[in-house]
Amino acid sequence: MHLPLYGLLFAGLALCAWAGDWPADAAVDAHAPTRTLTPKVVVNSGRLAWEPYKRDLTPWPSLSHLDRRPTPPPQAAGFTPPLRGDVARGRAIALDPARGNCIACHVLPGEDWPGSLGHLLLGYRKRGHSDAYVYQQIYDRRLINPNTVMPPFGTFGLLTEQDIRDLTAYVQSLD
Ligand code: HEC
Repeated sequence: MHLPLYGLLFAGLALCAWAGDWPADAAVDAHAPTRTLTPKVVVNSGRLAWEPYKRDLTPWPSLSHLDRRPTPPPQAAGFTPPLRGDVARGRAIALDPARGNCIACHVLPGEDWPGSLGHLLLGYRKRGHSDAYVYQQIYDRRLINPNTVMPPFGTFGLLTEQDIRDLTAYVQSLD
């Protein structure tokens, strides 16, 4: 399906069957396999093709600037020791784009092309933070910084408790 570029914002109106809660300008098609669409440039045409996105993003209140659906409020993680985290598993989660993807924002040792948006996590071990503190950062950093750009991996159910324990062990091990 081809749409003019300037139609991007209103593409959904022409294309889609709307569920009441989605914003009117969201790229959603209830009949697409994943419901969420993504624009693809059609070379030399001035047009965009709308293709099914690989994941269903409709539960996320981030489909457009008009999306006013509420997000779950910041949550205390309620960490209980002992940590029982696996450093190697934590590292794998941190580097996996479909899971933690921490590398997109943070410099992690031994990795090429890290992100530079987040704090440097090199040498984290020497900072001497408690496991509970680090666990909370990953679970939901909004308690410490309400305007953080870091996703609340725990509150939003993006990672399991064990994933966050493994990541905590990994971050705490960084030299
Ligand atoms: C979208 C970018 C982004 C992603 C993805 C991200 N972070 Fe962050 N993180 C940040 C930013 C930015 C900060 C600090 C400032 C803030 O809160 O906005 C931060 C802070 C932290 C802190 C606290 C640092 C300190 O000074 O104590 C830890 C620990 C941390 N992140 C770990 C992780 C881990 C582990 C992951 C992957 C599961 C991750 N982050 C994913 C952006 C990100």
